[in-house]
Amino acid sequence: DLPARVTIHEVGARDGLQNEKATVPTAVKAEFIRRLADAGLSTIEATSFVHPKWVPQLADAEQLFPLVSDLPVALPVLVPNQRGLDRALALGARRVAVFASATESFAKANLNRTVDEALAMFEPVVRRAKDERMRVRGYLSMCFGDPWEGPVPVHQVVRVSKALMDLGCDELSLGDTIGVATPGHVLDLLSELNEEGVPTSAIGVHFHDTYGQALANTLAALQHGVTTIDASAGGLGGCPFAKSATGNLATEDLVWMLQGLGIHTGVDLGRLTATSVWMADQLGRPSPSRTVRALTHK
Ligand code: HMG
Ligand code: MG
Repeated sequence: DLPARVTIHEVGARDGLQNEKATVPTAVKAEFIRRLADAGLSTIEATSFVHPKWVPQLADAEQLFPLVSDLPVALPVLVPNQRGLDRALALGARRVAVFASATESFAKANLNRTVDEALAMFEPVVRRAKDERMRVRGYLSMCFGDPWEGPVPVHQVVRVSKALMDLGCDELSLGDTIGVATPGHVLDLLSELNEEGVPTSAIGVHFHDTYGQALANTLAALQHGVTTIDASAGGLGGCPFAKSATGNLATEDLVWMLQGLGIHTGVDLGRLTATSVWMADQLGRPSPSRTVRALTHK
């Protein structure tokens, strides 16, 4: 049985723009988020409160967040540590995400920490965020494969997932950061997580389309009962130079499939596509989304 409705967790303004070579002006980001909300997306990840040298594309978080915080949508932000949470709280953010890795190589590259050191860094962040009655998401990257380590064993992913839940995260987002997952692997991981006590209701999925499997993987997850799907408007976030960073699942491709399945999303596909075409103009390159291309082909 498929769910009647799903929540699309829109990551274009954060995961998308953090990987674009061009730095987008703050006013354009704010307009992008407003248009996404207007297209019916109800959860729009806005930015990250990370070190500006690590992610210069999102260094304007303090300027951006107040420009969109009046919107009647959830605006989660990424916070790696207490400093990030302080910055988010100062601006009135109500949802935060910490971001762990299933592999040591990516933990080092992304957070300058071992997996367990990163979990220790998140512990007081999650505790304080829960004290503040915030909703906390725990991202987990490299759940299927890692560019340095190759295939990632399911038990390794389960261990870090459980650790994130034990910290008090309300939901997980299982990231196929390099896009190597296939549907059977997705189902194996979901089943193993359930067996280890992580309920499907706490699990979101975050696929990348490197090998064209993102929708197949999404369908498998839906059939398993997952109702939170991450996607990036227009497929933003593709880096043509790094195989490991090829684009996120495009929100338009996801909405097209969900509409066809009769699953409610609240998203207006026409408005969303127009937004991605507008953003592609700002970035000076066409959207890689097949659905955007098909709907705008003249
Ligand atoms: P570090 O160098 O180990 O930092 O980086 P530190 O703790 O030693 O502190 C060094 C300096 O950074 C200090 O300043 C701190 O104050 C400052 P100094 O005393 O030298 O002047 N600092 C900060 N400044 C602003 N905001 C902060 C902050 N924290 C420390 N929050 C750190 C550790 C975690 C900070 C760094 O590694 C970092 O910012 N990493 C973020 C990387 C990132 O954002 N990656 C992308 C997100 S994850 C992802 O993309 C995957 C995902 O999308 C899923 C998928 O696609 O599959 C989620
Ligand atoms: Mg991503």
